[in-house]
Order: sequence, then C-alpha cells, then structure tokens
Amino acid sequence: MYLTNAEEKALAGERGEALEIAYRVHVAIGKLGNAEKLVPIEWAHVSGVSYLTIGEYGLDFLKKLSSSKGAKFKVFSTVNPCGMDIENWESLEIPRDYAEKQLEIIACYKKLGIANSFTCVPFESYKVPRRGTSVAWAESSAAVFANSILGLRTNRESAVSALACALTGKAVYSGLQIPSNRKPSKNIKISVKKHGDFSGSLNFGILGFFAGKQVPGVIGFQGLKPKLSLAEAKSLSAAIGTLGSSGMFVLDSKEKVETIEFTDRDYEETISDLSQSEDGEAVIFGCPQMTLEELSDLSNAVRGKHFKKRCIVFCSSMMFEKAKKKGYTDVIQSAGATFVRDACADFTPLISSLKVGSVVTDSAKGAHYMRKVHGINISLKDTRTIIEENTA
Ligand code: F3S
Repeated sequence: MYLTNAEEKALAGERGEALEIAYRVHVAIGKLGNAEKLVPIEWAHVSGVSYLTIGEYGLDFLKKLSSSKGAKFKVFSTVNPCGMDIENWESLEIPRDYAEKQLEIIACYKKLGIANSFTCVPFESYKVPRRGTSVAWAESSAAVFANSILGLRTNRESAVSALACALTGKAVYSGLQIPSNRKPSKNIKISVKKHGDFSGSLNFGILGFFAGKQVPGVIGFQGLKPKLSLAEAKSLSAAIGTLGSSGMFVLDSKEKVETIEFTDRDYEETISDLSQSEDGEAVIFGCPQMTLEELSDLSNAVRGKHFKKRCIVFCSSMMFEKAKKKGYTDVIQSAGATFVRDACADFTPLISSLKVGSVVTDSAKGAHYMRKVHGINISLKDTRTIIEENTA
C-alpha cells in the first residue's frame, strides 16, 4: 500500500506511539484488502465503549493509547453507546465496580477528543456530510445506514480500525470506499404475501436479518416501496449488520445478479429463530437507540396509559433533551417507562440485573443480542402490538 512520506514517518514512530500503532493497523488492514492507498475521512465513529464488551484488556489498551504521545483524534469523532446511563447509573442499580470501569473508558475517549455522543444513531445528532464523502464508522447498523441511505462511503470498521482512522484522519481505501464496489452482488426479491404492504420497523428488521445472513456483499432489494421511513431504514440497516458482513444495501436494484426470494416461509423461519417466547416479563425499546420521531410516536401511543410491567427506553442524551423540550419524555415517563440514556440496549448489565427470564422487544438486532449476551428468551413483536398488550 502506498504511503506518503509523512505517513511513512508516522509509521516509523517519528510522530509518537499512538500514530505508529494507528498506521500499523492501517498497513495490516491495507495488506489484507490489497489496498492501494489511504483516503482522508471527515468523520470517525468509534465503537468498543461498553466495559461489558471490551473488558479489562480493552480498558488497559485505551489507557495506554490515550496517555501516549501524539494521541489525539484528528477528525470529528463520535462514539457508540456505552454500558450504562452515565448520569443515573446508581439509581438504575448498576454495580459500582462496573460503573467505575465504564467511567474510566469514557475518560480515555474524552482525552482522545471524542464528541459527547454515546449514540449508535450518530446521523441524527450531527450534520451529515455531503453524499460521496468518506467516513469511517465502526457501528455496523450506522455504517450500513451511512452507505445505503446517506450516500457516505465507509467500510464496516472494527473498534480498533475506527480508532486508527480517528487518530490519523484517514481510512484504508478498499471495499465500500471504492465506488465500483458499491453495486449489489445479489438481489433479494420480496415475495411475502401475508404482511400487507410490507412496512413498519419490525418487518424491515426481519427482512434485514434474513438478507444479512444470505448476502455477504452489497444487497440489492427488489419489490420494496421506494422510500423507507427513518425507523424502517434504521431497523433494516441494524438487522443487516447483525450477522454476516454486508455493509450496504441498494433499494430497487436493477443489477442483473443472482436473485434470492424472501418468502412468507423465510419470514416465519426468521422470526421464530429470533423469538422464543409468547410474551416477555419486561419491555425493551431502543436498539438502535430511539430517534426523536420514534419518541414522538411512542409518546402518542402511550399518552394516558400505563405500562403493566417494567419498560425501558434507550436513547442518547441528545435525543432525550430534544424530546424533553417537546414534552415526549414526560408523557412516556408518566406511563411508567424508564429512560436509559447513552447506553446500548444489549451490551449493558442492566438487562441481566432486571432478573427476568424473558423480554419483549420490537428490534430484530436487540432480540439476537439480548439472547446471546444475557441468555434470556425474547418475544419479538411490532411496537404497536407491544404497547397494546402491555399497557392499560
Ligand atoms: Fe445500538 Fe447497542 Fe443496538 S449499539 S444498535 S443499541 S446493539
């Protein structure tokens, strides 16, 4: 991979240990992908924030990195949700030893220069660059959304490669950074009959989960409506990113490639893989974290009602504050729901501390991870049904 003189010097350690490590990561990934060069980026989105996922080794690495010479993010950098509500962890009964580790991780990222984002929906909180801009986003749901809906160019970066991108302001020019690679490798044709006009975030979550398993490359969809709502596009992107390696989809694909049908049977098999329980002992909303529009819809749906069981709503602090100004959060809290801000709905000890054997959720990605991480059964249903069945 070609490196400029300045990049060679940074690789040789002349600009500090942090940049040396970052360029070593770039070179290793560049060799794997047979990349010709690095490309400047305008935005890095870093993952690997929850202590539940990165553990002691990850924390040690971050401490060393953030204290080393030259360790500052070079471009606008946002960060994924962490493993707890940063302000209210005590009242949510997060164990103190976990919370202390989590706060240390956050302090490392702040030292490196991260924006106070803690969201997996960064495109809602900050101004999105023009289409065709190169970025480096690690959160798979956000990366798929960035490529497919926003027209940005990013590979599905790992926690480590996104850190390297944030430190250098560059990404390896390979994969989805290259325009000619952004064409469907296979098409998925929607042939379901039982689900009406095929709309709503649950249906798109089921479709995304199926498609992500079937197609490792760019997914072309055929037979979908031409424009998805934000909630549908977010759900589809998140579910595609859950399994497999696809980083992009194209709506209304015209590409003449192998076509896989998505039938009613595929729909039923996918939902029964993800949903083991008729009902859940608690309600979980917000994987990916809820948008302002979703909080508005939720407040309208629960106005004057009360949840019959524990209901937890995950969103970023930024969205919480916006929703509060509009009165949505008061309505949702009056219905008995608890907000958890800045945390990941799945990679938090909060779910285990609920001490329930099952939860009900509207997220295909959440269903997969809550079962995998916390070993609980999942009831996967659409938002409206969850509210109808669980409020009075
Ligand atoms: Fe976001 Fe965590 Fe789900 S990062 S997409 S809430 S798994």
